[in-house]
Amino acid sequence: MVDRVGGVRDRFTRERPPGATAYPGGDGHADHGVGGAHTPKEERAVKLLVTGGAGYVGSVVTRMLLDAGHEVVVLDDLCTGHAEAIAPDATFVRASIHDAAQVLTPQAGFDGVLHFAALIAAGESMVKPELYWRTNTVGSLALIDAVRAARVPRFVFSSTAAVYGNPATVPIAETASPAPTSTYGATKLAVDMALTSEAFAHDLAAVSMRYFNVAGAYLPPQGAGIGERHDPESHLIPIALQVAAGRRDKLQLFGDDYPTADGTCVRDYIHVEDLARAHLLALAAARPGEHRVFNLGNGNGFSNRQVVEVVREVTGHPVPVEMAPRREGDPATLVASAERARTELGWVPAKPGLRDIVGDAWSFYRQLHA
Ligand SMILES: NC(=O)c1ccc[n+]([C@@H]2O[C@H](COP(=O)([O-])OP(=O)(O)OC[C@H]3O[C@@H](n4cnc5c(N)ncnc54)[C@H](O)[C@@H]3O)[C@@H](O)[C@H]2O)c1
Repeated sequence: MVDRVGGVRDRFTRERPPGATAYPGGDGHADHGVGGAHTPKEERAVKLLVTGGAGYVGSVVTRMLLDAGHEVVVLDDLCTGHAEAIAPDATFVRASIHDAAQVLTPQAGFDGVLHFAALIAAGESMVKPELYWRTNTVGSLALIDAVRAARVPRFVFSSTAAVYGNPATVPIAETASPAPTSTYGATKLAVDMALTSEAFAHDLAAVSMRYFNVAGAYLPPQGAGIGERHDPESHLIPIALQVAAGRRDKLQLFGDDYPTADGTCVRDYIHVEDLARAHLLALAAARPGEHRVFNLGNGNGFSNRQVVEVVREVTGHPVPVEMAPRREGDPATLVASAERARTELGWVPAKPGLRDIVGDAWSFYRQLHA
C-alpha cells in the first residue's frame, strides 16, 4: 500500500475482502457513477455536497459536476466566497461547515462530499492560528462527523502542497514526509490524517488532493467566467495582473538569491480547469476503506521572474517589480510529481502551459473589471 499520510497509512493498512461492502447498499467497488477521462461503466447521476462552492475552486468543480448531470448542494458561509460565483443550477445553503449535520442528514441521500471550504492564507495563519485550527480542522472534523452519521460513502478533500513544507527532494511525490512550515499547512495535514483514520475505522472512501499553485480561470462559452478573487490577494499571478492593469504600483518579489536559475522562487502552476477535472476522477476512483492521496501539479516549475515575464507578454503592459528580502519559510522550489494522478486516475492536464494559464486569468480579470 503506497498511500502515506505522515506514516500513518502504513500502520492502518489491512486486507479487505474483494467486494467488501462499505455501507448498507454499497457494493464496495470504485464505480460510483461519476465520470471523467476514465468514465465508469454505468454512469448515473448522484447527489453531492460541495462545501466552499462559492469560492474559486469549489465553484468551478460545482459547474463540472452539474455539467456531468449530478445534483449539487453548495454549502458555504460566504466568509470569503462570492454568492454570484455559485452555479445557478446548484442548491445553495448558506451555513458553516460546523453546522453541516443540518444539511447532511441520513434522509438527504448524499452520495459524496467534496470539501473545499477553508481559510487559505498561509501568512494570516501564522498570526491567527486559532482561526485556522477552528475553521480548517475543527470544522472539517464536524463535517466528517456528519458524513459518518449520514452514512455518506465518499469524501474528497482539498489538501495542499503546503503539507510538505521544505521538501528534501523535488519533484515532490506523495511518499515525501509531510512537514508543514505554516499553521495553514498543519491544519490541512491534520485533516488528511483524520481521513486516514476515518477510512480505516469506518470504511469511508476518502481522497485527499494536494494542490500546488492553482491559477487561471474557467471561461464558459456563455456567461461570466470564474477566476481568482481572494481578498486580500496573496497569489502571484492575480497580483501581477493587478499591476499590469495599473491597479497596483508594483509587484514585490521576495528574494532573488535562491539556488534557482534566476535566483527567484520556483513554483508549479496548475490550471483551475485541470484541477477541477481531477476531482471528478477522484470521486469515481474513491474506494471504501481507503484514503488515497494525490498531488496535483504540472510537474513543471516556473520562477517568479518567468511568471512576471509571461504576464508582461500576455497583457502587453509593463509590470514594475521591486525586490524584497526573502520571506520566512518560503522554499526555493516547489514542484509536484503528479505521476500518481496520471497513472492511477488517468488525469492528463489539458492546459499545462503558463501562457494559457495567464491568458485565461487575464481574460477573467478584464471581464470582471469591464
Ligand atoms: N487556491 C489555491 O491555490 C489552493 C492551493 C492549495 C490548496 N487549496 C485549497 O483549496 C480549497 C479551495 O481554495 P480556494 O482558492 O477556492 O479558496 P476560496 O477562499 O476562494 O474558497 C473557500 C470557500 O470556503 C468558504 N468557507 C470558508 N470557511 C467556511 C466555513 N467555516 N463554512 C462554510 N464555508 C466556508 C468561503 O466562503 C469560500 O467560498 C481550500 O481548501 C484550499 O485550502 C487552494
